[in-house]
Amino acid sequence: MSSVLLTGIGELVTNDPTHDGTPLGLLTDAAVVVEDHRVAWVGRRHEAPATDDARDLGGRAVLPGFVDSHSHLLFAGDRAGEFAARMAGESYTGGGIRTTVAATRAATDEQLEANLARHLAEMRRQGTTTVEVKSGYGLSVHDEARALAIARRWTSETTFLGAHVVPPEHADDPAAYVELVTGPMLEAAAPHARWIDAFCERGAFDADQARAVLEAGAAAGLRGRLHANQLGPGPGVRLACELGLTAVDHCTFLADADVEALVGSGTVATLLPGVEFSTRSPYPDARGLLDAGVTVALASDCNPGSCYTSSLPLCVALAVREMRMTPAEAVWAATAGGARALDRDDVGVLAPGRRAHLTVLDAPSHLHLAYRPGVPLVAEVIA
Ligand code: NIG
Ligand code: FE
Repeated sequence: MSSVLLTGIGELVTNDPTHDGTPLGLLTDAAVVVEDHRVAWVGRRHEAPATDDARDLGGRAVLPGFVDSHSHLLFAGDRAGEFAARMAGESYTGGGIRTTVAATRAATDEQLEANLARHLAEMRRQGTTTVEVKSGYGLSVHDEARALAIARRWTSETTFLGAHVVPPEHADDPAAYVELVTGPMLEAAAPHARWIDAFCERGAFDADQARAVLEAGAAAGLRGRLHANQLGPGPGVRLACELGLTAVDHCTFLADADVEALVGSGTVATLLPGVEFSTRSPYPDARGLLDAGVTVALASDCNPGSCYTSSLPLCVALAVREMRMTPAEAVWAATAGGARALDRDDVGVLAPGRRAHLTVLDAPSHLHLAYRPGVPLVAEVIA
């Protein structure tokens, strides 16, 4: 087992508060020892132990690889025309999901997998090392199961989203579709999934339907997460907290009671500012959530409809500029926060025993992620 000393780290974000008493756990002039794909040691360069090999990172900043806890990468085609229409004044309703369902059903396994691989590589180049991937554009027993089987070859964080919208062939009988999702579709999907999710929103699934889906998923051994309060106020966030879900995502339209429910729960609020950027919706009140003591994660929501960015650096910049998160809060939310939203303790933090997933920036500090928006600052990803 060979060990490598990474040295010359101008600023190291560890997310281990024991280093400096802040959540980001910053160290300057730092070094990391990597052994067998794990972090073996973290500290100041002059205290580093002897290793077989050493590499000097030239004073660059290093942070844990981004943990993108929400994406929809099993799809075919794109909806650039829908985006252009939105920028000309149309609003986002989720209606275009059916366009992607048709394209996804028509695609071969090879095409779906190649598209997934391409987007995962794009994410990796932007510093992301852990990615959650949802189904939700198949919406038949066969198409949901095959999407998840493909996703499973690339990530352990797979999410069954049969309850994305009611597909056209069930438009007359949504109740029958919920029975399909909670019955045969769940049975076919569960072996390939870790999580179950539903789109709890007017025009998609109401709270009773979402509850039925989440409870059926739990009975099949899947953990729950939920799309809620994206397009308007609603019961989704409170439902997620009541059910003790690991994460509730979007949280754009929150009432005081929703924030209170989040405060009293262990549920992570995952904010997806790329969606607001790409749909011209108001941004979620990150400041209010953080000040109330809610755990906040940032994720991309990468999908061909509401938000076709795979860039967590962009989301960090938007969180700081548009949602008044500090750069430290935003970087934490896109790394340790994403890990919390996936209930993972092996990623998102650089400490002995954790996975050696490191993102190296061509910049002296994490501040540059927000300070230099749109600039490809990721010099290297070690994972
Ligand atoms: O998270 N809200 C539901 N699902 C996705 C968008 C899907 C689409 O428009 O294709 C989202 O925003
Ligand atoms: Fe989503």
